[in-house]
Amino acid sequence: MATLAAPDIQIDSFLEEGSLDSMAADIRAGLERRPKELPPKYFYDARGSELFDRITEQPEYYPTRCERAILNRHAPTIVELTGARELVELGSGSASKTRALLYAMAGAGTLERYVPVDVSEAVVERSALELCELYPGLRVHGLVGDFERHLPHLPAGEHRLFAFLGGTFGNHFPEQRATFLASLRELFGSGDFLLLGTDLRKDPAVLEAAYNDAAGVTSEFNRNVLRNVNTALGGDFEPEAFEHRAVFDPDASRIEMRLVARAEQHVRIAAAGIEVHFADGEEMLTEISTKFTPEGLEEELRTAGLGLEALFTDEDGLFAVSLARPL
Ligand code: SAH
Ligand code: TRP
Repeated sequence: MATLAAPDIQIDSFLEEGSLDSMAADIRAGLERRPKELPPKYFYDARGSELFDRITEQPEYYPTRCERAILNRHAPTIVELTGARELVELGSGSASKTRALLYAMAGAGTLERYVPVDVSEAVVERSALELCELYPGLRVHGLVGDFERHLPHLPAGEHRLFAFLGGTFGNHFPEQRATFLASLRELFGSGDFLLLGTDLRKDPAVLEAAYNDAAGVTSEFNRNVLRNVNTALGGDFEPEAFEHRAVFDPDASRIEMRLVARAEQHVRIAAAGIEVHFADGEEMLTEISTKFTPEGLEEELRTAGLGLEALFTDEDGLFAVSLARPL
């Protein structure tokens, strides 16, 4: 479905048909696993996107500040190295860091089109309107959909820079990351590049603080997935009956976000046709956030047929933005 919101804006949505059925199937499958899991893309309803933006402002949450510093500093180099005319952004959210890239493309005189892709319709519409206002003449072609399923619907283009920022890549398991990179590689023309933002491995105390902010925003964000399931699928989760926990697993090199049942309980999810039992203290995995090494990143890219061209970090070496192209 295509809607025309303004002369230079086109937004195609691929979510409506069968999306509740596939959500019900995802949730059912996750809750049948041991330990139980909830798939992370359901964090991001309108309230979830807002809470995420608030996480990025917390003093303990360094990744956004680091990634913004890297992009502000290196965007002109990135634009020069790629000759990009089009910015395709996967999981674009509020697109607040993207502006450095668009600004550099506009400065180089190459900026033609911005293509945000996100499951959250509200953020795609809002960022499309904001960016068209900021860059008169910019064309925006947004895609409301799942970047794991709907990328074949991207408008055709060349000299594209695919930005996948915010560490979202690290929220996927290794097999998912491999499949995702391989499918991107498949889609790429020879003039296309990938710009990948990933968090780096560091002192576990720093990592754990970033996912346990003192103001409790991450805790609210984590429990918001339960509210989202309640609203979308007629569930009766009591979000207050679960506690947020985020711990670093050094073997898997990732933060694991969990929700822990504060007491024994039963939860019914009407539209998924299930009733689930939680033991007192039972943990449910809601999200992983992988912490990479530069060598590990290069290896994952190479396995997918992508060559690392440059890797930029912030001054303290906390976060990395990698630039890669088809080998
Ligand atoms: N890039 C932004 C937002 C990161 S939060 C930043 O760096 O600040 C992750 C974003 O990815 C959210 O906006 C969420 O809605 C989106 N997202 C998560 N899973 C997705 C999926 N499978 N397909 C499309 N978008 C997804
Ligand atoms: N991509 C972000 C990250 O891994 C997502 C994120 C930040 C997140 N804080 C969170 C996901 C809290 C779940 C819960 O850092």
